[in-house]
Amino acid sequence: MNKRYAIILAAGKGTRMKSDLYKVLHPVCGKPMVQHITDQLKGLNTNKMIAVVGHGAEMVKEELGEEVSYVLQEEQLGTGHAVMQAEPLIGSEQGTTVVLCGDTPLLTQETIDSLIKEHEQQQAKATILTAAADDPTGYGRVIRNHENQVEKIVEHKDASEEEKLVTEINTGTYCFDNKALFEALSKVGNDNSQGEYYLPDVIEILKEQGESVAAYQTADFNETIGVNDRVALSRAEVIMQKRINEQLMRDGVTLIDPANTYVSADTKVGRDTVIYPGCVIKGETLIGEKCEIGPHTEIENSKIGSANVIKQSVVHDSEVGDRVSIGPFAHLRPKTKLGNEIKVGNFVELKKMTMGDGSKASHLSYLGDAEIGENVNVGCGSITVNYDGKNKYLTKIEDDAFIGCNSNLIAPVTIGKEAYVAAGSTITEDVPGESLAIARGRQTNKEGYVSRQKNEK
Ligand code: UD1
Ligand code: MG
Repeated sequence: MNKRYAIILAAGKGTRMKSDLYKVLHPVCGKPMVQHITDQLKGLNTNKMIAVVGHGAEMVKEELGEEVSYVLQEEQLGTGHAVMQAEPLIGSEQGTTVVLCGDTPLLTQETIDSLIKEHEQQQAKATILTAAADDPTGYGRVIRNHENQVEKIVEHKDASEEEKLVTEINTGTYCFDNKALFEALSKVGNDNSQGEYYLPDVIEILKEQGESVAAYQTADFNETIGVNDRVALSRAEVIMQKRINEQLMRDGVTLIDPANTYVSADTKVGRDTVIYPGCVIKGETLIGEKCEIGPHTEIENSKIGSANVIKQSVVHDSEVGDRVSIGPFAHLRPKTKLGNEIKVGNFVELKKMTMGDGSKASHLSYLGDAEIGENVNVGCGSITVNYDGKNKYLTKIEDDAFIGCNSNLIAPVTIGKEAYVAAGSTITEDVPGESLAIARGRQTNKEGYVSRQKNEK
């Protein structure tokens, strides 16, 4: 089979983003733009994926990992110059090379595949992926001759008034005969308004040499949006979110209001889970089946089992078993690990802690740096006093213990199996199993106190 290569242009700074973050690393639905591209390419079985990196090279490499080969473009002299950097790696190979921009995150594998098929069918030296734009401002225009054949691409900044009226745009994605690409690139100059070596100039060069150049117009302009500024970024986000949400619904997840539900590209949700409005689900999150999430819940990088109810709560870097009820207004901070059939009620904050099956903290608690066993009841207002201003200490509460309301458990401390802590206690020493600890001032009633006060006046 014909060898296939992919070159992804990702060296630009992204001046128009006005950002400290390099353009291709700006996330769309939680995933860097350039990674959307490489993820789509993975299904295409290319022999080599090459990313051209420059600005933020180390960060881009870190994101994309080892499945991609890298070439460095030290100075950003244009998209043509960027592609040229890949010549030492594949310049002498026979095959088909797809060139894509790292700022077109919505492009799908199907469209790239169709472009390659069209290119191979037409036996063209170059095939451009084009689209019809309602507003083509900023894009390169595809200029066709009287026979409707592609002549060249003209950048917006170099276009005449007449050329600016053309609505067929260059999406920045192309398919080339590999050898023809690098031969033509050596002839590209930089005599244009930006003083850059433009990749699209290859088209005109090939045409002048009498080579066949084709264009494949995709039906959906939205898929080809090039993100150069934050306005386009927000458009891409909306389109990508709609795509993710529709896929979730097709897979059996109910979204009450898809336009107000934000789910990252790397989240997976099981069947018959219902997500209520205002939820933001970020990072790599896994949610099981038959859960009720939200309204207004944020979950990030967490593993949530099945049949859970999580209302108006925040869950970060945590694990939750099955049939657990969380919230409203609970906060699970990193490294919280809950078993099954647990209740974490309103205004409960958990951090770096584990809780066994059947335990409850129903109201107003802080439980941090703690190991809590099974069937433990943590009463309203009870807290683990884990921090002395310098260090953090562990609280252990063993199975079936009962912590009365408003208790302070001053760590390090262990409450034994089936032990009771009386309400209002401040516990400073371990409580043995099956015992009752009371650590509070005894109550004294001063009878007749009020009438004595009155008589003194
Ligand atoms: C480019 C095309 C334009 C097309 C549009 C589609 C050129 C000259 N113009 O314009 O015809 O309509 O994309 O979105 O190609 N890059 C490098 N090194 C460089 C310059 C750019 O790696 O020296 C990378 C950027 O990081 C970016 C991509 O190439 O990912 C495209 O560059 P950008 O500056 O966004 O080009 P556009 O102006 O959008
Ligand atoms: Mg661009």
